Amino acid sequence: MRSSFVFVLIAPLFVVAAHAADLEHGAQVFRKCATCHMVGPDAKAKLGPPLNGLIGRKTGSIEGYNYTDANKNSGLTWDDETFTRYIKDPKGVIPDTKMSFAGLKDDDDIKDLLAFLKQFKADGSK
Ligand code: HEC
Repeated sequence: MRSSFVFVLIAPLFVVAAHAADLEHGAQVFRKCATCHMVGPDAKAKLGPPLNGLIGRKTGSIEGYNYTDANKNSGLTWDDETFTRYIKDPKGVIPDTKMSFAGLKDDDDIKDLLAFLKQFKADGSK
């Protein structure tokens, strides 16, 4: 009786933990982006722009990076919703983007990646 009471009390905590964003996993997922993108204080443009301070800024707003007009003029601001849609299917959201990436399928991958990226402020610090 007593042990089942404790279980009922504790079980929801594990459910919450399992759904909390996992930054380490997010960093692993970012390896798929890292051929083309950098984050952190020394981030520079590679094939794609640095992804520091992404959430809250407009598409195509990193100074000096040569974006396509499609990306620059999409009219979108990066937030949880636009990022999630885009990273599932980049060309579905910005049809003429030059980012050739098929997209991520797994919702947990996307959530953890987003949490990982959100750590980096515009200057690349955490
Ligand atoms: C093969 C190279 C490549 C890979 C892999 C790649 N990207 Fe990109 N990404 C680009 C390029 C190039 C652009 C610029 C797009 C344009 O100007 O049309 C871009 C643009 C973006 C933008 C828009 C940035 C802005 O400032 O508006 C985001 C967000 C983004 N990528 C996220 C990601 C994430 C997250 C991943 C990994 C899941 C990823 N990309 C994987 C090449 C890549």
